[in-house]
Amino acid sequence: MNNFKAALAEKLKLAAAESFPEADLSDVDFKDMFEYPPDPEMGDVALPCFKLAKLFRKAPPLIAGELAKCDYGDSVESVNCAGGYLNFKVSNEYLASSVLKEIEEKGEKFGSNEIGKGKTAVLDYSSPNLAKPFHIGHLGSTVIGHSLKLIHEFCGYKCIGINYIGDLGTQFGKMIAAYKLWGDEKTIEKEGVNATVALYVKFHEEAEKDPSLEDVARSESKKLEDGDPENTEIWKRLVELSLKEYEVTYRQLGITFDSYNGESFYTDKMPEQVEKLRESGLLKIDDGASIVDLSEYGMPPCLILRSDGGTLYPTRDIAAAVYRKKTYGFDKCIYVTSAQQILHFSQWFKVVELMGYDWYKQLVHVPYGTVSIDGKKLATRKGDVVLLRDLFATAIEKVNAVMDEKNPDLENREEVAEAVGVGAVVFHYLFNSRIKDINFNMDAALSFEGNTGPYAQYTYARTCSVLSKAGDFDRASEAVITDKSEADLLKVLSMFPERVETALADYEPSVITRYAIDVCTAFNRFYHNCQILGAEDEKVRSTRLRLTAAAGTVLKSALHLICLKTPEKI
Ligand code: ARG
Repeated sequence: MNNFKAALAEKLKLAAAESFPEADLSDVDFKDMFEYPPDPEMGDVALPCFKLAKLFRKAPPLIAGELAKCDYGDSVESVNCAGGYLNFKVSNEYLASSVLKEIEEKGEKFGSNEIGKGKTAVLDYSSPNLAKPFHIGHLGSTVIGHSLKLIHEFCGYKCIGINYIGDLGTQFGKMIAAYKLWGDEKTIEKEGVNATVALYVKFHEEAEKDPSLEDVARSESKKLEDGDPENTEIWKRLVELSLKEYEVTYRQLGITFDSYNGESFYTDKMPEQVEKLRESGLLKIDDGASIVDLSEYGMPPCLILRSDGGTLYPTRDIAAAVYRKKTYGFDKCIYVTSAQQILHFSQWFKVVELMGYDWYKQLVHVPYGTVSIDGKKLATRKGDVVLLRDLFATAIEKVNAVMDEKNPDLENREEVAEAVGVGAVVFHYLFNSRIKDINFNMDAALSFEGNTGPYAQYTYARTCSVLSKAGDFDRASEAVITDKSEADLLKVLSMFPERVETALADYEPSVITRYAIDVCTAFNRFYHNCQILGAEDEKVRSTRLRLTAAAGTVLKSALHLICLKTPEKI
């Protein structure tokens, strides 16, 4: 509706100048004032006249009444006033000639914009702690992060995706200790990361019986930090195994990263920042540790160095941000993590500000809620976790079972089952606003009905199927709209650019997920109400086919923005 609103705003300006010649309209921008009426029967776009009361020296209903008398041209079907609102209905001619044309002309670019033109966004996402299993807790950072990257790209940003892998920390001490005690290269060779996860689990079981193992782990960790060659070799092996494992999941999701510079990459970049902190007098010694006091800002202190001189999570984040600013010259650096890290990010963002880096305002933390599966919270320690890989495998298997029944001879069946199974999980997850805690329900996710990925993908496939049966049709002559469901579909399609802007501004992929459902609902209503292939009138038929194609184009773009693939046949 953006274009409609822009054109209407210009006409309103003329109308207002005519009706209220004494008012100064130079600061009035009608385009920003529009709202959407809660009930579409009232109108498609509304102008609330309350803010104009002062300027026009009249009560809002009177202003609406005056403005309703003006002529708004062919794009407006009707104007009416209700209270202080002026309600406009968009005309079918406008939808057919303008909205449909625009979608056809722009194709897969429809909905995109240039908000980020010439700007760079760095996105730090997924970023799992290696050597631990890649479990459903990582789904959020991975798919919200990737979707935000795609949305930023769609809005003209140049994007750098960084997988800031957790390749340091105490878990490596534990892994190395376990590897030395019980590790068996043959099993590891054969089972890859499964074997190392088993070692990790065993370590925790054994350490419960024999707490001295924790000391062993700490000393292995220290040796690794000091560059011990044997431990470095084992560490490299563990990192490599984990990454290989993650690649399977990333490939299923269609995710690639521009950089895998993880925490260890910043080891030699921290001293400079620590020095800067010290020189500027920000570092305080507290119980032997070096901290930045943030009490003035209502936060606990930010820990920079442990009492043994070891660096900490915030220290690395500060060094990494400085490095990224220098390397990529970002206009935004976005971090996608669970809401449990909100304090961590507020703290070190503040420290960056106090250090005098004026780009601190460009750092953005995007938190999300926790996930449980059918009510169960997830823990890593006991091995009682749902691995992403297994979650996807279960989903794919279930889709396969449905296909056995419904469409056993489908070509590229494996590929399609993967796209639908993985898509179902992602869609189900991205349907909720990110900050909400969600409970994952596999059966609901996989249903072909309701607000699900399979339903959306199936609707897309339906548009493809109609078009493939249609053969050639006339796309050039004037479109004619004869049914309300056609106009309603076009109205929904015309909202895509605005939804993209909202998703970008709010860092909220769920806006797109929900919009995809709006498109599906509108398309399916149209599909059931109107004969498409069988329409008698040639013009009506070609208009309906064009509508089908337009719905397919927009649905495909929307689904791609939330990491879903769009098979043409399901
Ligand atoms: N590895 C961390 C974790 O799994 C997430 C890292 C997020 N990114 C960052 N720059 N701190 O909790």
